[in-house]
Amino acid sequence: MLRLAVNLFRVYPGYCPKPVGIGSSTPATFVWNKVFSKWIDEWHARNMSSENTRTVDVAKGTMRTLRNNLKMADKIQYYNQWAQTYEQDLALLEYRAPSLVAAQVSAHFSGERRAAAVLDVACGTGLAAKMMKQEGFERFVGVDCSEGMLQHARQTGLYQDLKMAVVGDQPLPVPLGDFDVVTLVGGLSSTHIPVKVIRELCQAAKQGGLICMTTRANHDNAIFKVALEAEMKQMEEEGLWRRVEVADVSEFQYNVTDNEDGYNPGCVYLFQRL
Ligand SMILES: C[S@@+](CC[C@H](N)C(=O)[O-])C[C@H]1O[C@@H](n2cnc3c(N)ncnc32)[C@H](O)[C@@H]1O
Repeated sequence: MLRLAVNLFRVYPGYCPKPVGIGSSTPATFVWNKVFSKWIDEWHARNMSSENTRTVDVAKGTMRTLRNNLKMADKIQYYNQWAQTYEQDLALLEYRAPSLVAAQVSAHFSGERRAAAVLDVACGTGLAAKMMKQEGFERFVGVDCSEGMLQHARQTGLYQDLKMAVVGDQPLPVPLGDFDVVTLVGGLSSTHIPVKVIRELCQAAKQGGLICMTTRANHDNAIFKVALEAEMKQMEEEGLWRRVEVADVSEFQYNVTDNEDGYNPGCVYLFQRL
């Protein structure tokens, strides 16, 4: 029994994320889930929640797990557990997407900021709203699939309303055509929110409203990025929105995969609803 446990640790060295939903039909995963699940749950909860154990390597391991194709229920559970140390980890990884989005929106927004309604889709703990607040925006509505992340967003006191929804599977739970600014920061990627959601983001914006989105530009997200940009172009051709600015960013956040060094590049897209 002990040797089996040691060998399983060799498969998941260092930080040990619970491998829920990955190849769930293999005998090894069956043994893992059935025999060790309670012990792993406790171990996992301890490591996800302890602020004292956060290091760059731990943060990279946590994010690497999310780049697997987890089932939605497992992803939500993972984010629920991660919420407590999410901001600490993202700071360790020099995650710049929220500040890049706030700066890009700020550079192009011409209305009254304090009155502007901002929809923050996949709001997480509220990092984007915090950055937007520094640019003068004050009225936020957030949407996320994880109650744990939403609880932290609630504690910021920045959101007038917070809604739980799995976007892509469920419609956006907000009135369409109401928002001066719509953001989706850090959520568009091959393992998270699907490309088709950008049509709903556009519909959520008022005519003339801005829609700002990010995605990673490293190799494991390359196919997704091509599909995303094809859909963005298609929507331009359909007269739904116009491209305002697309910024390639070389230092988007630390790379978290084993075979790449340094930073992941990323892209920040800004469109205006027509
Ligand atoms: C990398 S975090 C980004 C959070 C925040 N926007 C930020 O920049 O810090 C991704 C967020 O998307 C949420 N998420 C992932 N898939 C989702 C979905 N299909 N619908 C709604 N939220 C989703 C997760 O719960 C998580 O809070």
